[in-house]
Amino acid sequence: MLGESKINKNLAKKVYIETFGCQMNEHDTERMLYHLEEVGYSPSEKRDEADIIIINTCAVREKAANRLFGHLGNLKPIKEANPGMLICVGGCTAQNIGAEIQKKCPFVDIVFGTHNISELPGLIDQRIKGEKGICSIINDGFDYDLDKVKRISSFQALVPIATGCNNFCSYCIVPYVRGREKSIDPESIIKSIKEIVSGGVIEVTLLGQNVNSYGKDLDKDINFSNLLESVSDIIGLKRIRFMTSHPKDCSLDLVRIIKERDNIVKHFHLPLQAGSNRILEKMNRKYSREQYLDIIDNIRNSISNSTITSDIIVGFPGEERKDFEDTLDMVRKVRFGRAFTFMYSPREGTDASKMEDTVSLEVKKKWFSELLQVQNQISLEENEKFSGMKVEVLVEGKSHKDDKLLEGRMENNIVINFEGSAGLIGKIVSVRIVHVRTFHMMGELMS
Ligand code: 5AD
Ligand code: SF4
Repeated sequence: MLGESKINKNLAKKVYIETFGCQMNEHDTERMLYHLEEVGYSPSEKRDEADIIIINTCAVREKAANRLFGHLGNLKPIKEANPGMLICVGGCTAQNIGAEIQKKCPFVDIVFGTHNISELPGLIDQRIKGEKGICSIINDGFDYDLDKVKRISSFQALVPIATGCNNFCSYCIVPYVRGREKSIDPESIIKSIKEIVSGGVIEVTLLGQNVNSYGKDLDKDINFSNLLESVSDIIGLKRIRFMTSHPKDCSLDLVRIIKERDNIVKHFHLPLQAGSNRILEKMNRKYSREQYLDIIDNIRNSISNSTITSDIIVGFPGEERKDFEDTLDMVRKVRFGRAFTFMYSPREGTDASKMEDTVSLEVKKKWFSELLQVQNQISLEENEKFSGMKVEVLVEGKSHKDDKLLEGRMENNIVINFEGSAGLIGKIVSVRIVHVRTFHMMGELMS
């Protein structure tokens, strides 16, 4: 391990953060940048030029730990060549297996958990002063201050409204790495969004593992519908997104408010996870396929132009062909605009990881590709409904694939590419859809 003398005290103060996983992690990166900027660090575009490399890890993806160790293995030579720089590991895998990371990778300078982000400057200081084996993880905490964020975009903002999760779906690691559900108080959410909007932001995404249960833990008479209504009242805010909704808490009141308000997107991400009641119960999802279909009917009867997207897992322990066919049946009935599909794999510590993983990898792969085929065809057909239509697009930047094209998102989150000048980035423009594909569209700017 490194001693005091080798750590560079005259750091050029550049930090490079690699972010894996969901939008909550992206937001956590913005919080890390804020706290580091307070003590003089600025973001670096290039990993090799950074004095601090932070890996902001995800634990939801498959083989998260193995992937992290592989990744850290690649960083080891960088540390060896430049012992004065620091390597830090944060995020959900750090929270989950911090001690193991330190043991297996002693060249990692700092491990910090999901509730310890604001401590980062202090931890770096400790390390620079020579302390070794720094690992700061608390089991369940609340470390949020909505004002302490270095926003990466000038026109879009991620705003957490609640952290953690109380649902304990049997396959899911999130409640273990993010702690119990804690809602952020509504006054600070509204104050923060008003400030962001007066600074030029036109789209906010309200974040929570289960936004629909917002407020249940607060000592106030407030729920997600009320909060959404207040956010929607903020003048100048053009688009409000929200992620993720748990179907069991999707109220009629919520659907009504979304319908009434022009600045709330008509996009519901409602993870189905499985189509068979037997598997839904084993997953501890707390709804049946019939109840899920009722929710979809409520949404579609009220908001005919809504888009519903989903997450689906195949090969859960004990799943049989007839259960999988129930999933296919639901996919055909609901007709999701898009579905993110996963092959089940155990996450250590969860209830499902104690069940026998009965479905072979071969069968999981087969079901996965069958599901993908059915869903992709539906996505294409659903997208075709937009062909020739005029849609509103928030221009996010240049296309990643072709920098002669711009890239933006429609209200329903579908990516659309079209020709236009870079001056349009950050603006909402009208685009006619001229060509439809499975995952994105081609358009033509309208004057
Ligand atoms: N195996 C496979 N997929 C999973 N997900 C969460 N945990 C697992 C797991 N153990 C999927 C769920 C969730 C999405 C973010 O990741 O579908 O909604
Ligand atoms: Fe995980 Fe279920 Fe909570 Fe979503 S609702 S984060 S799937 S435990």
